[in-house]
Amino acid sequence: MSTNKTFTMIKPDAVADGNSGAIIKMIEEAGFRIVALKKTQLTPERAGQFYAVHAERPFYNDLCKYMSSGPIIPIILEKENAVADFRTLIGATNPANADEGTIRKLFAKSIEANAIHGSDSDENAQIEGSFFFGNVEQF
Ligand code: CMP
Repeated sequence: MSTNKTFTMIKPDAVADGNSGAIIKMIEEAGFRIVALKKTQLTPERAGQFYAVHAERPFYNDLCKYMSSGPIIPIILEKENAVADFRTLIGATNPANADEGTIRKLFAKSIEANAIHGSDSDENAQIEGSFFFGNVEQF
């Protein structure tokens, strides 16, 4: 994926709480264009594949359970400097440390149920976008 794209996923807690519309509004108002979007649900196995990089972490099993507990909304976004700007918009992983006005400050419940994911590099944006949408160069 080119450097002006990133990947995000609205997580089960935020979808279940009816916050996906408000979150997408914030994303669009911050200047991101939606390239691809769908609503889907992961199995625990697929969640484990997505987060394989965390397989050795103590929170991995709970994370796989949580991420497969309900529908999610994966999205590919486009904007100049997309990866870095999006991580600024969502705030720190732990909502207790997230800046005021960020998506996680407003909507996350805990370090695990933290409302939204954002890719941490162009390379991972490419890998994660492909995980849900296949060949992302098609968009
Ligand atoms: P995310 O940015 O999607 O990347 C890994 C996810 O693991 C993180 O958001 C949280 O949902 C979850 N997680 C749970 N516990 C922790 C922890 N202690 N540190 C980092 N991530 C955690």
